[in-house]
Formats: sequence, structure tokens, C-alpha cells
Amino acid sequence: MRFSDKTVVVTGAASGIGAETARLFAREGGIVFAADIDADGGDRLVAEGEGDIHFVSTDVCSTVAIKALMDRAAGETGGIDVVFNNAGAGGAREKIHEIEPEAWDRTMDLLVRSVAFGIRYAVPHMKDRPGAAIVNTASVAATGSGYSPTAYAVAKAAVLHLTKVAAADLAQFGIRVNAILPGFINTNIFTSSLDLPDETRSLAKAMIAQASANAQPVKRGGQPHDIAEACAFLASEAAGFVNGTGLLVDGGLTIGQRPSWDPEAPSALGMLAALEDQAKASAG
Ligand code: NAI
Repeated sequence: MRFSDKTVVVTGAASGIGAETARLFAREGGIVFAADIDADGGDRLVAEGEGDIHFVSTDVCSTVAIKALMDRAAGETGGIDVVFNNAGAGGAREKIHEIEPEAWDRTMDLLVRSVAFGIRYAVPHMKDRPGAAIVNTASVAATGSGYSPTAYAVAKAAVLHLTKVAAADLAQFGIRVNAILPGFINTNIFTSSLDLPDETRSLAKAMIAQASANAQPVKRGGQPHDIAEACAFLASEAAGFVNGTGLLVDGGLTIGQRPSWDPEAPSALGMLAALEDQAKASAG
């Protein structure tokens, strides 16, 4: 029970990583304020009856709504101990030479501004709380190209940098700030923004599940509970000396090129060695 009587705010809590994290904090004694734009999903989470979870309908693109969320959590419990700024979606899919300003701004509002103001409006309620901690969801997309659309990658790199700078700003209040960089985690994020009939959506989900099982050195797909556990660690006393960092939870996805960890994958070095063997064989 690492979070007995601690007040915990989780955004994006109606689905995937956020839902699983809300459940974990609640199981460990937290009073959880689960925020999401999806009211049906939020109601379903509460109906599961997993501990003390309160759903707060919140659009994190609205700073008014974020402030109301933080004020309500603190008003009902006396303060805030943990914030998980996690809500998100894939955002604009265009490449940099095709993206329109409005699509860029919408993506940045959802993924970066929401985190900045999640911190901004939580901090007044966290200042006198021992062990107070903020965790932000970045992504492996923060480390380079090839993991996501362009605007998303830029936004997640900004979340990582914001995490570091915020950790410095908030040191004076004893508040730690860290980020998690999830790898390929099996959630609805890959299909939720696609306009698909139900049948095709199920097919797409099955394809994602299969792809996520083989994408990294760890031979299984990443699951929401992998990120929930990382969040609970970063928010707990066990991580009391961990601050301003980005924790990769990616099954090794970012280690390097596939041939470096997959013996079946063709590599340039392997092909050169085969050529050398061939040359030796024909000479001998
Ligand atoms: P998900 O789609 O299962 O959950 C995202 C939740 O955010 C949904 O419940 C959605 O309703 C909510 N949301 C979207 N826009 C919102 C808004 N304006 N206001 C409030 N809530 C809003 O996806 P998942 O995977 O659980 O995503 C959680 C976070 O993890 C996101 O920030 C995502 O970018 C990040 N992430 C996910 C990865 C993955 O492979 N699934 C990899 C790296 C990062």
C-alpha cells in the first residue's frame, strides 16, 4: 500500500495506460481522481469498483478544465500528492512539409500545453505535501524519428525537456518531476483516431497486438501495466532520489537496429561475412 491516503490525479484515465495506472494507485490505497474527455470510459472505470476512484470529465486542451480538476482533487482531500500527466493521442499525421498550422497547434495543445498546465495548476496544491511527485508521459518518439508522426515526436521531446526544466523549477518545493518514455504499448491509441468500421478496427487491433510482440528484444508486447508499474515507482518513496529523468520502458525497442538483437534479421555485417566466406570458398 505505497499510496495509502495519497491524493493522485491521473489524466487520460479512461483507457489504456491511464486506466491501468489509476487502478494500480487505487489498489495501493490512493484516492484517485481519474480525468478524461471520454465520460463513458471514465464511468466504466469507476464501475469496476477498484478502490477509491473518482471520474472527473476533463478536456486537457482546456486550461480552465485542468485548473478545475486540480482544484477539485485538492478541495475534496486537502491537497495533491501525485500527478500523472498522461492524456494523449496520435495527433496530426502529416509530415513537416505538409502539415497545416491548426493541426500542429492542436497536437501541441493536447500533448505539451496540457502537461505544462497540468503541472502549473497542480503545484499550488502540492507544495506542502511530503514526497510530492509528478510523472509525465513522453514516448520513445522523443528520441528520434521513425516511431510516430512528426508533430507527436516533437511534442514528446518537448515533454521530456519540460520534465527536466520543471524538476529544477520545483526543487524549491521538494516536488520531483520525472517522465516515462513508453515503447510500443498495446492500447487503443493506434486505432482510436482512425475512421474504421468495427470489424476492420478489430482486425487492426489484432495486427497491432501481433506487431507489438515482435518489435523489440523482449519477446512480448508492451502492456499498460508495464507503464503503470513504472509510474508507481517514480511516484513512490523508492524513487526519492530520482528526479528530472526520462525512464525508458520499451522492452529494449531503442537499443539499436534490429540486426543487433535479432539473429534472424539480415545485417550488413552478416552479408559482408557471407561474401568473405564465399570468396574464400571459391579461392580454396
Ligand atoms: P489510449 O488511447 O488508450 O488512452 C489515451 C486516453 O487519453 C484516452 O482515454 C483518451 O480519451 C484520453 N484523451 C485524449 N484526448 C484527451 C483530452 N483532450 N482530454 C482528456 N483526455 C484525453 O492511449 P494510451 O496508449 O494509453 O496513451 C496514453 C499516453 O501514452 C499518451 O500520452 C500517449 O501519447 C502515450 N504513449 C503511448 C504509447 C503506446 O504505444 N501506446 C507509446 C508512447 C507513449
